[in-house]
Amino acid sequence: MANQHKTVLVSGGTGYIGSHTAVELINAGYDVVIIDNLVNSEIYSLDGIEKITGKRPAFEKVDTCDMGALRRVFEKYAFDSVIHFAAHKAVGESMDEPLKYYSNNLVSFMNTVELMKEFGRPNVLFSSSATVYGNADTQPVTEQTPRKPAESPYGNTKQIAEDILRDCTRAYRGLHGIALRYFNPIGAHPSALIGELPRGVPNNLVPYITQTAAGIRKELSIFGDDYDTPDGTCLRDFIDIVDLAKAHVATIDRMTQGKMEQDYEIFNVGTGRPVSVLELVKGFERVNNLKLPYRITGRRQGDIPAVWADTTRANEVLGWKAERSLDDTLRAAWAWQQHLGK
Ligand code: UD1
Repeated sequence: MANQHKTVLVSGGTGYIGSHTAVELINAGYDVVIIDNLVNSEIYSLDGIEKITGKRPAFEKVDTCDMGALRRVFEKYAFDSVIHFAAHKAVGESMDEPLKYYSNNLVSFMNTVELMKEFGRPNVLFSSSATVYGNADTQPVTEQTPRKPAESPYGNTKQIAEDILRDCTRAYRGLHGIALRYFNPIGAHPSALIGELPRGVPNNLVPYITQTAAGIRKELSIFGDDYDTPDGTCLRDFIDIVDLAKAHVATIDRMTQGKMEQDYEIFNVGTGRPVSVLELVKGFERVNNLKLPYRITGRRQGDIPAVWADTTRANEVLGWKAERSLDDTLRAAWAWQQHLGK
């Protein structure tokens, strides 16, 4: 019989971050129930999770916007904690179709929080993003760095959902929330059994790099080398996906062990180390022993020159730290791309 305290509902659990998090939760002894509508992920992620952990998580094909279907999940499974990943995530698309983003990302989150409250399930972990900081005045950003007005509907849904969680934990006794602000998640599980599955032309840097290395894309465009940074390309905080997944386990441990100091808490999840786009490209070439066709092109609209995390709070309070080296992460990213090509 599953232990309610040790059971975690993971919405969006067949997706990139969700599937890696499911693996680490299972490895840490949690029972995992995954729900996903499979609009941007594949059911065979479950096979990868099972091969890695030896355990197949329970799965229900459910759209979290469908309150009736979501309620049935709450009735069927006993869990204390939910990790809410289920959301659309393409910044550019959110500019063209804002209603799709506001409606899906916010309704699904509000439904989840509403049912957590109604069923007396205490712990909500929300999947937020460094995008909430925008182009901050100082780097690295801490959790206290003021958020700038969002530059995209996608970013706005992250800010609004954070506020919803803050307000609900304040208003409803017994409800606790933690928002994790991810920096740039990259890489794949070292087994190459799960990883990112971008649909169409990737927007994010690393999938574009690996697809270019695989010959699927002709060349990589590096968007701008005239930023005020050491080599002129943008600086980001690239966080290994397995390290990122482990931050969720530390967060769920904190919640289920009653260690929270406030009803709503925020943690940056990054490495604390800025890496330039060009450094990343060169590192990828070096560790995988290949040449990547690339060209410097103009800046991409909406990109910020630099953002990286101050991770002191996550390190000290959550007891979590990014451990994997960038080289290992870039090897894993390439191994996963090669696995996909088979
Ligand atoms: C983007 C989103 C961010 C979201 C995150 C999710 C924007 C403005 N931000 O972050 O809100 O949370 O993805 O992963 O879209 N680059 C190239 N060539 C490429 C692709 C990217 O040079 O083909 C550069 C970009 O200019 C940027 C860096 O690589 O400097 C990282 O880009 P990307 O992976 O898209 O992430 P972010 O833009 O940082």
